[in-house]
Amino acid sequence: MDNKELIKFALKAMEHSYAPYSNFKVGAAVLCKNKKIYTGCNIENSSYGVTICAERTALFKAISEGERDFDKIAIVSSSEDFTFPCGICRQAIFEFMPEGIVVLFSKAEGIKEFSVVSLLPNGFFLS
Ligand code: THU
Repeated sequence: MDNKELIKFALKAMEHSYAPYSNFKVGAAVLCKNKKIYTGCNIENSSYGVTICAERTALFKAISEGERDFDKIAIVSSSEDFTFPCGICRQAIFEFMPEGIVVLFSKAEGIKEFSVVSLLPNGFFLS
């Protein structure tokens, strides 16, 4: 699966974003090593802290279906700029795909790839 295809899944998921407070829509698509794809969107709440980001929605959907091995996660948003994962999502992604790739897409700037460890150097793990 190439990045463009994965981004299409993330864009489709973004259509389901529930973001009445920020009006900032986000979509994500996780590619498992077994080639399955799980998607997610951000889901806000009137109690703001309850909000979940698109990346964690996608990742947690996959994990709750038994997936454990991931290659990539694509992230798109309604912004013209690249949308980088927030700190909490970086740590969540690091837990499950420390050797993975984050793929970002912006209409204006195209596609960029980052390794997970470049976005979260020295991520936390229990030792
Ligand atoms: N958001 C994401 O879904 N992913 C990110 O990495 C950054 C932020 C969402 C959360 C909230 O619904 C909106 O974007 C504005 O913060």
